[in-house]
Parts: sequence; C-alpha cells; structure tokens
Amino acid sequence: MTNKFQFPKNFIWGAATASYQIEGAWQEDGKGESIWDRFSHTPGKILNGDTGDTANDHYHRYGEDVALMKEIGLQAYRFSISWPRILPLGRGQVNQAGLDFYSRLVDELLGAGITPFVTLYHWDLPQALQDEGGWPQRSTAEAFVEYTEAITAHLGDRVKNWMTHNEPAVAAILGHLEGNHAPGVKNVVQTVRAAHHLLLSHGWAMPVICRNSPGAEAGIVLNVNHSIPASPSKVDRDACRLGDGMWVRWFLDPLHGRQYPADAAAYYQQEAGKDVMDVVQPGDFEAIAAPMDFVGLNYYLRQIVRAEVPEEENLPVTVETQGERTEMDWEIYPEGLYYTLSRLRYEYQIPKLYVTENGASYSTGPDADGRVRDVKRTQYLRDHFAAAQRAIEAGVPLAGYFVWSLMDNFEWGYGYSQRFGIIWNDYETQQRILKDSALWYQGVIKNNGF
Ligand code: GCO
Repeated sequence: MTNKFQFPKNFIWGAATASYQIEGAWQEDGKGESIWDRFSHTPGKILNGDTGDTANDHYHRYGEDVALMKEIGLQAYRFSISWPRILPLGRGQVNQAGLDFYSRLVDELLGAGITPFVTLYHWDLPQALQDEGGWPQRSTAEAFVEYTEAITAHLGDRVKNWMTHNEPAVAAILGHLEGNHAPGVKNVVQTVRAAHHLLLSHGWAMPVICRNSPGAEAGIVLNVNHSIPASPSKVDRDACRLGDGMWVRWFLDPLHGRQYPADAAAYYQQEAGKDVMDVVQPGDFEAIAAPMDFVGLNYYLRQIVRAEVPEEENLPVTVETQGERTEMDWEIYPEGLYYTLSRLRYEYQIPKLYVTENGASYSTGPDADGRVRDVKRTQYLRDHFAAAQRAIEAGVPLAGYFVWSLMDNFEWGYGYSQRFGIIWNDYETQQRILKDSALWYQGVIKNNGF
C-alpha cells in the first residue's frame, strides 16, 4: 500500500482524554473534591447544568474502553491523573484507592500493547488547595511537587512518557482572568500569579519525574492556535501580538530560558495598576527552564484577531474566514498546524514535538443502522494529518499524534453539548459506538499514513 502521506517509522498514533472529562466517580473511593466539581455544581456555570459527576463512567468502564482502544489499534493513550484522587486534600495523606485505580488502568493499557502518556494536571485542582488560595499561591506549586512525587513513585516503573501540565494558559487565563473556567476568578494579578506558579511547579516537578521514572521522557502540553490580524491596521496587529504574548510567549519564553515577554508584562502591569513581577523569586526562571524532552502541542483552529475599537477607527477587515467552522464555531485551518509546528521548531529549537490534541466537535450520531457517519470529522483529521506530514518533511521533529478525543466527553463550560470523540458515547446507557472516523483512523494507524 503506497500512502500519499507516509509517516516516519515508529511514529506514534494515539488518542487523548482528561480525568474530569471522562472518569465520573466524583466522590468514589476516597477521592477529594476538585475545583471542577465545585465549579460544575455552581448554578449557571455549565450549559444545561451538566457536571462531571458521572461523565463516561470511565472509572468503572476503563477495561471496556481499553478494549476499544485496542480495537482501533491505538499505539498510545494520553490521559490525565485526578490529583484529588491521589491526595484528597492536595497534600499529605495519600489515597491508596486512587493510586490503585491508575495502576489498574496502566496495567490494562500495557497488557493491550498501548503506551500510557500521562498528564499530571489537566485542571482538576483539589478544592482544599483552592481554599488556601489556589495557583496564585506559591504553596500550591510546592503541593504539586508532593503530588508528582506520590504518583511518579507509584507509576514511574511502568509509565515512561510524562506531561506535567495541560495548557497552563487556559488554567491561568480562563480560570483567573475570564472566569469561565474553574475556579471562576476574574483578577489580573491572580492570573499572572497563577501562570507563574503553574510554570514554576512544572520546573520543580521535572527532576522528580526523572528521579522516579528512570529513562522516561517528560515535557509540557501547550495550546497554540494560529492567529492573524483581521486587517493590516496597527490596532489589529497590536491586538494579535498581545494575544500571542499572553497566550503563547508568556509560557514558551520562560520554558526556554527567556524572561516573560515585555509586551504582555506591560499590559498586565497597566491593567493591574501595580507591579505584577513581584511574584518572581530568585531562581524561579532557572527552575522553569528545566530541560524538556519534548513539547506537546494542542492545535485546533485559526483566530482572526480584530481590535476592540470603533470600526471607524480601524481599517476594513481584509482577512475573512475561508474554512468551514466546526460546531464549536472554530475555523478549520489545517495550514495553521503546519505553521505552528514550524514556529515551535524554529523559534524555540524544540528537540521533539507531539501533537497532543487535535480534533473537531461534530454532534453526528448513530443512524438507524447504528453507524455514526461523522464524515466531517474524518475530513478534519485527514487534512490536519496531511499538514503534520508536510511539517515533518520540512524538518519538524514530530514524533506522534493524539486525536482529541478518544470518546465524546464533558466539554467544560459546554457540558455534553459538544462531541469531540471518535467514539460515540450515549450518556443514558453509557454505550460506546466506534464512529466512522475511528474506523478510518484504524486504517491510518495500520498503514502509518493514508
Ligand atoms: C483543551 C483541553 C481539552 C478540550 C479540547 C476541546 O485543549 O481545551 O485540553 O480538555 O476538551 O481542547 O476544547
């Protein structure tokens, strides 16, 4: 079989999920409350009043789900650990039942020939730590090290692919500035402090992972989409650059030995009306820049950035949406994945990259014959796989690709209204159905291309 898009030998094909989005069992076996439990139980925060209380009941159905991963032929599975399942109060007493669950899951994966890729933090902070101030407090970064110690000591013999954080930008900005993610804060100073302590906790955790998981690779997962100004006007260009400063360079720069970007720091300083850099202590930047084996990229869409000024003070828009939009109203822009992978490689000399999330929301469900004909999702994946293959040909060291998501799940503020899975989930019956996109993916994995 000659593929039009052939991937390198040993390229890793996987799918991704996150603990709060699929596990359910929110109070089971000694698990502590997380900030997402608290947020989703707060009226008005989640569409339709949905919560992750049950979700996909993966906590009990993980065996069935691993069997489906094996049926698709996944070579790897990216999932996250629920910190409050391990340390119900965020630090101190370890919950053995929590460790045992992830041990069972890892053994089930290894038994199925599937490599576990573990994310330590995918936003479900123990509420007990939030009650002490959360990520804006330096003590939370210290607690993260204790959590990393507990889980890597337990799984480090079998898990050899670790990611500290998933999208620290989202945890900091949506959680502390825009407030539409847990913990629902809207405060500039807390945003900067949260971002710093997320990065600092990453840097402090890296040597712990290396010590407890000999021979493992470790890195961080960042969300970087493709942004472009809506017109050549200075205000649009400045708005686009500032967004990139806050969402991308604020994280990539210090992770690669640079300081915080001056443009975004000036913005935060001006908004806060005070010095925000007092959160940085001597040695922090050295810790944050701990050498990484890889960076995980979460890529979804293109953003056309328009400044928030009266239209008469701006130039006419010259960049219009050209691609279709998914049901999340995200513009489909596969070239953006090529540009973003290239940017990460050449601007930051990153030694190895994974696409740790890429996928599309389409609610296509089962037809009368039980088949889920999610043609648009297959097309989305095909176009983005092709862009990734072109990036590899251009010299980007892309080592693997994780489709978001293995199965439909709790999409944060959107609840269950958005479906990203290549597996359909019926939340009433918890019945899973492989969508056509999963069957297509099965062929891609088998042929290592298409
Ligand atoms: C993210 C998160 C995922 C989302 C996915 C779709 O990237 O925001 O990692 O949890 O569900 O991206 O929004």
